[in-house]
Amino acid sequence: MRGSASRIGEEQVLELRVVSAVPLTPRIRAFEFAAADGSALPPFTAGAHIDVELGNGEERSYSLYNDQGETHRYAIAVLREQAGRGGSAWMHDVLREGDVLRASPPANNFKLSESGERHILVAGGIGITPILSMAARLQALGRDYTLHYCAREPAEAAFADETRRRHGARAHFHYDGGDPARGLDAAALLKNRPTAAHVYVCGPAGLIRAAREAGKDWPMGTVHYELFKGADADTSARVSNQPFEIVLKRKGVTLNVPADKSILDVLKAEGLRIKTLCREGVCGTCRVEVLSGAVDHRDDCLDDSDRETAMQVCVSRAMPGETLVLDL
Ligand code: FES
Repeated sequence: MRGSASRIGEEQVLELRVVSAVPLTPRIRAFEFAAADGSALPPFTAGAHIDVELGNGEERSYSLYNDQGETHRYAIAVLREQAGRGGSAWMHDVLREGDVLRASPPANNFKLSESGERHILVAGGIGITPILSMAARLQALGRDYTLHYCAREPAEAAFADETRRRHGARAHFHYDGGDPARGLDAAALLKNRPTAAHVYVCGPAGLIRAAREAGKDWPMGTVHYELFKGADADTSARVSNQPFEIVLKRKGVTLNVPADKSILDVLKAEGLRIKTLCREGVCGTCRVEVLSGAVDHRDDCLDDSDRETAMQVCVSRAMPGETLVLDL
């Protein structure tokens, strides 16, 4: 599962019929959708996702894993989240063949740089889904690529056989048994950048952090990543939260941010529309400019100069005793 987004209702809505719902592993189920009226679906590019409206009132984003260019189907795979908010459980337990649901047209925040000469694709767990589509595209273009598929164990690598069959020696598998130290060595993989290479990472926050750190000296725009939350996500505990105040300068209001709420929660409750994607401080979507006050930056996307003037409101908070004045 990708992070939540909020595009349904703002643009064209698709009615999709479930053509198949097939368990791949005890925790991963694949779904294939077609247009409910039988028409061709809007096209997409590798790395794209759709936002799906669930019957329980929630909305989720899922990457498409089928080949770009296919307009007769969208294919997604859903990991049942053990500590999730019920969205994945609804997809697993309620959604069945023949059902119709609403979804946004595809959007792509995780695009291939097709002009790149060499591409390193890294997938963690269910993060394999956009990577499959990207690998197929690179293969079709005749590009040089390698694909690294990381999972806890072979039984959880739902697409291992397909990956091996389609990509042969270009595919590498890393099983860590639950100990990241035994998994893919991102630092070694990205230490020496091949000429004109791009790397694409999709998976839990820990994998993305490792890859971004390993690729920090790569040229700007060559390290691409997309967070996938889920049971394998990095859920390391943070320091305990304190309440604080924020001032929305342009609205002229002061709001309290309780210890158990994020700034994003408070802004949404106030009726502000803040775009979000990952809600984990990784994607950069919920950036807000800060006019004054010291920020406890908890994101993984802003660099030091960005942090002088901005924050990610999904995760970051005020330093103790500070009031943050936001450009809102
Ligand atoms: S929504 Fe992704 S950084 Fe906040």
